[in-house]
Amino acid sequence: MTPGPGKTATPTRPGTRSESLLAWFRTNRRPLPWRVRPDPYRIWVAEVLLQQTRVAQAVPYYERFVARFPDLRALAGAPRSEVLRAWQGAGYYDRARRLHEAARCVARDRGGRIPGTVEELEQLPGVGRYIARAVASLAYGVPAVALEANGLRVAARWTREEADPRTARARARLEAALARELPPSSPGPFNEAIMELGETICLPEAPRCPACPVSFGCRAYRELDDPASVPRRPAGRHRPHLRAAVVALTERGRWLVQRRPPGGLLGDLWEFPGGRIEPGEAPAHAARRELREETGGTVRRLAPAGVVRHGYSHFTVELHVFRGISGSRRPVTGRTRRWATPDELRRLPLPRATEKIVDRLNAPDRPSPGSGSRRGRTTVSRRPASRRRPGRALRRGTAPSGGRSRARR
Ligand code: ADE
Repeated sequence: MTPGPGKTATPTRPGTRSESLLAWFRTNRRPLPWRVRPDPYRIWVAEVLLQQTRVAQAVPYYERFVARFPDLRALAGAPRSEVLRAWQGAGYYDRARRLHEAARCVARDRGGRIPGTVEELEQLPGVGRYIARAVASLAYGVPAVALEANGLRVAARWTREEADPRTARARARLEAALARELPPSSPGPFNEAIMELGETICLPEAPRCPACPVSFGCRAYRELDDPASVPRRPAGRHRPHLRAAVVALTERGRWLVQRRPPGGLLGDLWEFPGGRIEPGEAPAHAARRELREETGGTVRRLAPAGVVRHGYSHFTVELHVFRGISGSRRPVTGRTRRWATPDELRRLPLPRATEKIVDRLNAPDRPSPGSGSRRGRTTVSRRPASRRRPGRALRRGTAPSGGRSRARR
């Protein structure tokens, strides 16, 4: 093997890659909240949250969630709306729904004890290959390799994997390579150390190789001019951009909100009526049309309240927000559409983009062009800081889902 320019031909550290890695982790391990007082439930919640969220962003959500649901029984016994509310802002709400469902299965079928084998864990809703291995190794010391996005990158560089590490075959190769060095007495720390290395040193674009405790055992470092060229980047993804109109309709100090259908994108979350702006259509026209089509209601006065932008994993959206006063035809209300006081709105689970709209509606001195008189405005209570997104829009048709990819931390 030929070392890259300016690199040593012999290992700079004694011992094996895993020994050096574990020694480094012992002194550099961040005191993340799921590492303090670890138990299978707390580890599981953290791993679910961390699946699509970067560590720094996940911490406040995690703390809020486990403060509200400190153990499996608390989570299993809660209504779904409460779980979604506690997850609010973290995005990818399906994760929360499935975690809740799985907690209920464990409470019902297993006396509340989270199973300790990869195979049993994989039977639970929402628990896939990575989470099963992470929980089994971190919480129960099961000798299983758990590779998430960071770990896959680290392992790809160590072994100079040529293929995209997210493909099943490359992943299998990487897992097998790491399984050969997994220390049987500390599989959890080994797995976490790899993730930690990927999050803090073996960065996607600019790896800090001189600071790496295991560069001596890294083929990308030793053999390539640019270790960051591994793993190979997938072709750039183009996220489509959508335009939508949203109506914040008021009547006697209340706002019209509706619940999205369960199961789909942002399922069960509450939002203002609205939908896509058709090509060539004026935003105000789309606002009136969507309100009528969705709710049967008409609007007496419509005033622009600005544009809110939001990015989802698969598309971006610009939301043209309008304040409206209910017209002669009133919207149809019921179980999934109702008038909410500002206080009630504050307690409903909202998508992140709706939170942004609420902020916009509350922004005191940012009248939008043509917004007219401020008299008679309804102010939406802002969520207290603790309830707001510690760190993240629409139809029925406009709504892309919240969250962001954690593939590149
Ligand atoms: N990413 C996923 N799981 C993690 C963990 N347990 N610690 C740090 N980063 C992580």
